[in-house]
Amino acid sequence: MDKYEIKGGNRLTGEVSISGAKNAALVIIPAAILSDGVCRIDNIPNITDVSSIIHILQDMGAQVRRIDRSAIEIDASTIYTCEAPYELSRHIRGSYYLLGALLGRYRHALVTMPGGCNFGVRPIDQHLKGFAALGAKYSVDGGMVDVRADELVGSSVYLDVVSVGATMNIMLAAVRAKGTTVIENAAKEPHIVDLANFLNSMGADIRGAGTDVIKIYGCDSLRGTTYSIIPDQIEAGTYMVAAAATSGDVLVKNVIPKHLESISAKLEEMGVTVEEYDDAVRVTRTGKLNKCNIKTLPHPGFPTDMQPQITALLSMADGTSIVNESVWDNRFRYVEELKRMGAQISVDGRIAVVEGVDHLNAAPVKATDLRAGAAMLIAALAARGTTQIEEVHHIERGYEDVVEKLRNLGADIRRVPVRETAVPRAI
Ligand code: EPU
Repeated sequence: MDKYEIKGGNRLTGEVSISGAKNAALVIIPAAILSDGVCRIDNIPNITDVSSIIHILQDMGAQVRRIDRSAIEIDASTIYTCEAPYELSRHIRGSYYLLGALLGRYRHALVTMPGGCNFGVRPIDQHLKGFAALGAKYSVDGGMVDVRADELVGSSVYLDVVSVGATMNIMLAAVRAKGTTVIENAAKEPHIVDLANFLNSMGADIRGAGTDVIKIYGCDSLRGTTYSIIPDQIEAGTYMVAAAATSGDVLVKNVIPKHLESISAKLEEMGVTVEEYDDAVRVTRTGKLNKCNIKTLPHPGFPTDMQPQITALLSMADGTSIVNESVWDNRFRYVEELKRMGAQISVDGRIAVVEGVDHLNAAPVKATDLRAGAAMLIAALAARGTTQIEEVHHIERGYEDVVEKLRNLGADIRRVPVRETAVPRAI
């Protein structure tokens, strides 16, 4: 197992190119199951979560051909089972999209309860409510979810909570149902629009994605397609915050600036300059950072997946900031790690009070989950001294070539093997 060693203090400067969106790839790859033809998908991020979902499809019999580092071709017509392999699926959250895709195509899915980052309870009741509205029956037994239907019939589904996963899972099941499905109180994240565009490019008829009412007109078959995934909003936001943390000057390329507006707005409130171009943003910081309050919300609000990174930045701002995490119950576990570096943060439930300090100091820390790991990177890049970050497999689940991209921007970062500590033997 490797760790990252980062000597803080270097200003990040230059250009970084953003990869395809993890959370779009994790749904679009299994969505290829719904097609009767071959789907070519471009701009796939080269990260471990994506490798896992590809392995799952291959294990179930799909033919997946890698065309180059960021493009694959999927022929899912050779799938011979509706049961997802347990060991591979239980580690990634995105495996729950197999439920909607297999149900939509084969009227049956047997998938493990989803894994992913641990931020408290992660229910899937809204997904199941949606499947049931379409006529499916489900049971949860021994950690496996079994969903089946004789036929799927379009229906109205009102989501009790705005859920990205439930919105997309219901879209997957409904696209090959009979008749029309309406999802109300739907999530509006950019990857929901991306999924709708992907399915529409295969011949589906989905309208309203990106608003809170989505209509899906069911169809009998879907053809193959060629599609390119949108850039990753959260990877882009992470480099924007890293530039701000190091008083840097970075052009973040291959982005959709509209998707970054909530992040840009908060950085500007903190005194950072963000210039927008057609498909890039330039982030420059020359002065001090101002305090600022953050409340995470579903899109177009401030994304919960940027909360740890912005909190790391606020820990070095002038004054006291309040961070309110309104999406997840328990997404402040990383704060204990930041405190090792001198951050002054107190957490009460979903609220963190961040008292800015003049600077952070290097310390041995670990990535407690994916975005927590990104927060540690940001803190380490700005801190005095050399920080070691352990458990970086969490970071590599979602950030393509992060060490290389940061080095190209001037960071002093390297991957080093973790030496096993000898455990004394009983005598
Ligand atoms: N919720 C329910 N019932 C459900 C589903 C969700 O109560 O059936 C609640 C959750 O407990 C949570 C809220 O609704 O409080 C939002 O959950 P959502 O379903 O939107 O989250 P998700 O689909 O499980 C995706 C991303 C997460 C990201 C959230 C919110 C994937 C694979 N994961 O999770 O991404 O935090 O949306 O934007 O797409 C990450 O990339 O680091 C990550 C954790």
